[in-house]
Amino acid sequence: MSVLQKTRLVVLISGRGSNLQAILDQAASGELPVEVAAVISNRPGVQGLERARQSGVLALELDHKNFADRPAFEAALIELIDRYQPDLVALAGFMRVLTPGFTDHYRGRLFNIHPSLLPKFRGLHTHERAIAAGETEHGASIHFVTAELDGGPVIVQAKVPVLPGDDPDTLAARVLEQEHRLYPLAIRWFAEGRLRLEGDRVWFDGEALAEPLQLGSCPS
Ligand code: GAR
Repeated sequence: MSVLQKTRLVVLISGRGSNLQAILDQAASGELPVEVAAVISNRPGVQGLERARQSGVLALELDHKNFADRPAFEAALIELIDRYQPDLVALAGFMRVLTPGFTDHYRGRLFNIHPSLLPKFRGLHTHERAIAAGETEHGASIHFVTAELDGGPVIVQAKVPVLPGDDPDTLAARVLEQEHRLYPLAIRWFAEGRLRLEGDRVWFDGEALAEPLQLGSCPS
């Protein structure tokens, strides 16, 4: 992949698509040297698909309910994604568990955004669980996807405080604002050739990361 050539990106969504919007906006302004080749949703008619169309990006539906089982859905999803020959596939609110057959196929070129400071709070209802656990800090993580659910090597995180009186919605809104900065940043690093997965380690600017990078104290 040459840095002069735009990185081809396919984004997978299941719903609202606000992270997708942040990526589309930066791609359109030229801040992000990517071409969003396609957006694919496993749920028909979601808002994210409309956002893609509004940006002139191909918006496709592949309803998982039309397939007998998970492997059949994933085989069709791989076939669809690979038509667009992506350098990188970004899960942006894609709410399906993926099997090793899928994650191995895209190893090293599959990102996910998760609304917690991984390894804390894998899975669902992260904001509610962070409040219930009495956390004073919460946030979001971008990680390479591996077969382990929300368990792949973390690239970069953004932290926010948990404030007295927070409910899951107020906390989610504070985290989401950071997500919209975090995802385009990690994608840009990948597009610039600064980021790669080697074994189970994330390499950034030629060095293996001992810990995830932190938004606010990391390189731009
Ligand atoms: C985001 O908060 C993202 O971190 C989360 O879903 C939301 C999607 O919002 N992802 C997960 O929970 C993945 N396990 P969006 O559709 O507006 O980008």
